[in-house]
Amino acid sequence: MRKIQIINGPNLNLLGTREPSVYGNQTFEAYFQELKLLFPEVHLDYFQSNMEGALIDKIQEVGFTYDGIILNGGAYTHTSIAIADAIRSVTVPIIEVHISNVFKREEYRHHSYLSEVCKGCIIGFGMDSYRLAVDAVLHF
Ligand code: DQA
Repeated sequence: MRKIQIINGPNLNLLGTREPSVYGNQTFEAYFQELKLLFPEVHLDYFQSNMEGALIDKIQEVGFTYDGIILNGGAYTHTSIAIADAIRSVTVPIIEVHISNVFKREEYRHHSYLSEVCKGCIIGFGMDSYRLAVDAVLHF
């Protein structure tokens, strides 16, 4: 069974209540249940933290044994050389995901420290970005 780890960064624990016009009304926990039903043949794990170091710890923990990591770094995407270095340090392919189309938003969201070290990026499809990323991992 293929193993995929989803990692969500800061403020994504508030999906469902946080800026619904940008991120929608669904909690990630509810979406995650739907996602697991769509991919019964995949072992899917979910981790969220508001802390940069905890995200790095999780990348290091699964980054040599899983088949893929789906990472929404939240705002750390635009600031974190440390997360980019963690991605460089592991062997598992990582897909960068964003719910919103960051390129339609403020200019400071247009640069990602993570994109150049990720296998690919899926941006702007709402929660469906995560499903597209699982599909991408299954087609590596
Ligand atoms: C986000 C986009 C980031 O710019 C923002 O800081 C987030 C969410 C997204 O999924 O659209 O927290 O990663």
